[in-house]
Amino acid sequence: MFDTGQAHKAENYQQSIQRFQRDVKSIMESDEAPSTPCVFFDLDRLDQQIELWREEMPGIEPHFAIKACDAVGILQHMHRRGISFDAATGGELDLLSRLGIEGSKIVMTHPIRSDEDLDAIRRCRPMAIVVQSADEVIKLAEAGIPNSDYSPVLLARVALPYSNLNKFGVPCIVPLVGEDGRATTAFDYRPLRRIFETARSIEQQFSVRFQAYGFAGHVGTNTTSASHYLHLLGTFRVLGLELKRRSGIPITLFDLGGGYCDRMHAERDGITQRDLLNVINQAVEKFRSEYGEPVTIIAEPGRYLVADTAIAVTRAKVVTDAHFGAINGAEVYEMHKVIHLDDGVYSNLMGQIHDSRKYRPIPFRLRSSVEISGTPVPCVMWGPTCDSFDRVIPPDDYRVPQGLVTNDLFMIECMGAYTTVTATEFNRTQASKVVLFSRTEQKIEATVYTPRGEVVSRFKVPNDKVSSN
Ligand SMILES: Cc1ncc(COP(=O)(O)O)c(C=O)c1O
Repeated sequence: MFDTGQAHKAENYQQSIQRFQRDVKSIMESDEAPSTPCVFFDLDRLDQQIELWREEMPGIEPHFAIKACDAVGILQHMHRRGISFDAATGGELDLLSRLGIEGSKIVMTHPIRSDEDLDAIRRCRPMAIVVQSADEVIKLAEAGIPNSDYSPVLLARVALPYSNLNKFGVPCIVPLVGEDGRATTAFDYRPLRRIFETARSIEQQFSVRFQAYGFAGHVGTNTTSASHYLHLLGTFRVLGLELKRRSGIPITLFDLGGGYCDRMHAERDGITQRDLLNVINQAVEKFRSEYGEPVTIIAEPGRYLVADTAIAVTRAKVVTDAHFGAINGAEVYEMHKVIHLDDGVYSNLMGQIHDSRKYRPIPFRLRSSVEISGTPVPCVMWGPTCDSFDRVIPPDDYRVPQGLVTNDLFMIECMGAYTTVTATEFNRTQASKVVLFSRTEQKIEATVYTPRGEVVSRFKVPNDKVSSN
């Protein structure tokens, strides 16, 4: 096992964030500091997330959903740690393939495919492919998948009424009203039977075979309660046994999807990631022992692995004091600061739309040991584009110190998932950089990347230059 910094395991959430902030500040104060906007990933924190998963979910192979973060350095680091991957599209498959990651380590999960996706599947040969209809199985067959050299596992995505990612899935859970007027639920295995019977007839017709059949599901992102995973397992169990009993179709691979919360949300809801994983794992072990035949269980965590491993740093390009403003119909009369940042909705800060995220940017000043002074005053923060939708903080939502001035910086925590990956080039504003760093006894070692993954620079910050505040 790799060293994940045992001393840091005892830290509570606030302490660990503060240490992370100190490291970021030290890098920003070094001679080779990158310009902003910039997202700093701490590889030691990433290792801790991997280690925690392996400790609590030892029999469940995590396939990192690269839609959460496709920064090349992060993918390479995970690959070195033996992590498998979830590619949604042909584009993501090709990216993983370019990094030398074999198909046997990849599941492909977007259940509706274009010709380009099918092409990429033929080239990269992911271990498992998710579908949501018999038509998609026919599409695969017409593209020559499976064939005599390639037998992927076929997974059917099951729709879950409680998931906030219900764009896809086979509807198998049916809400009913009983004769006594009470609400109840039934399971309908027939749409799944159509999918697997179609697969079987293709296997017979073309003398090919799928390696196995299975189910996939996604309980919804940032889930802090184990109950939806327990329900997912219960659903898999009922539907799998029913398919076997009625049609003789064996379902042996179960993909629990993503959704495992980040640490920030775990703290907010008063749970720990360790406890969440532990409860899910116990239910998985029970499932294994009761299912009646050997099963493989995998998962597709995205946010869980990367969200808390990153801090974004953005600069206040201009700070002005205002006494009146009319912002999107809301009139603001009290004194407030108008702050124009170099990062915004169209770049790393899209989470306010994607995740209903409310940012709490922490102001700081380089080479200053004291906090920015002054009483907290209301503010409005705008992103860098020439577009009024690009608003990061609405009026009256957040306060900053009165002493804040142009060129002061902000840090935003929990910025590793659905940030760099959703950033656009809208308005051709300054592209954000990605910095990966890790810490040794003597120094911080950092690598700066462009958004496309080219290395810009590598440098070290010796320990005597590491900020202590
Ligand atoms: C198919 C699939 N798997 C995994 C994930 C990762 O989800 P999360 O980041 O919530 O773990 C997603 C996210 O939307 C997804 O669509």
